[in-house]
Amino acid sequence: MKDIQHHDERRKRSQEKMEYLASGTPIKPGMNSSALVWRMTNIITEYLAQNLRKPGSGFFGWYVTKNIFLRRNVILEENGAKLCQIEPHYNVLEVGFGPGVGLETAWKYVTGGNGKIYGVDFSDKMISLTKRRLAKQINDGKVCIQKGNVLNLPFDNDTFHRVFHCNCYYFWPDLQAGCRELYRVMRPHARMVTTIRVDSIKAITQKNILKYGQTSDHVEYMKTLEKVGFKNVSMQNVEDSGQTFQAIFADVDKRNSSSNKKT
Ligand SMILES: C[S@@+](CC[C@H](N)C(=O)[O-])C[C@H]1O[C@@H](n2cnc3c(N)ncnc32)[C@H](O)[C@@H]1O
Repeated sequence: MKDIQHHDERRKRSQEKMEYLASGTPIKPGMNSSALVWRMTNIITEYLAQNLRKPGSGFFGWYVTKNIFLRRNVILEENGAKLCQIEPHYNVLEVGFGPGVGLETAWKYVTGGNGKIYGVDFSDKMISLTKRRLAKQINDGKVCIQKGNVLNLPFDNDTFHRVFHCNCYYFWPDLQAGCRELYRVMRPHARMVTTIRVDSIKAITQKNILKYGQTSDHVEYMKTLEKVGFKNVSMQNVEDSGQTFQAIFADVDKRNSSSNKKT
């Protein structure tokens, strides 16, 4: 009986501690070590979550750029561009380009033609970093990057032959509006490629790191693509350099494209 009471009290104390830490109470001198570890984990999760959605100029923005975007995600970005099968005359858009790895890969496919690569991202940090990294391509007029939101793209209807994005759709504040906007700027017979790692997304969702995203569920994303008009929506496992990831393909089959202007 005493044991049960003791156990219940401990559980209550532990629950109170969790509530107290999750509420964002500042670290205080004298906090015991497990409380401190718990609080630090909460703080790290919070900063990672914020900077994965919109990388900033502080330590965590630097950390996710260096260790995730420019290392772990390179294969997704390169393949996002590669799987688009870009021809030299194509206009291509990447949304949420981060440090510009995919834009750089896509640019290689249009160097011999009159095609052009466009990027839209809403992070000032990613815009300035990519402007530095791709200064030559931008000066040559082959790459154009703009600050903006996928929900309101600064392009006319039917502009792009190809669109791609990596690790991005789950951060859009309105998934359906984002998909609809991409559909609007795509030409008839255009194709969109989305590259992701389904397992990693599940794992980081469980750790609460995607708490600033909407849905991380790729099935919901694919259903939404179909809802706004995309055809042949399918997902494939892809392997490259010993890594496996997923690519989602979606085609545009607009027969009666209404106007050539942004409405
Ligand atoms: C997780 S990062 C991925 C960066 C890069 N695509 C990669 O895979 O390494 C998400 C990127 O999408 C951008 N982003 C998120 N939501 C956006 C939105 N609604 N409109 C435009 N960009 C957005 C962020 O600024 C960030 O650069």
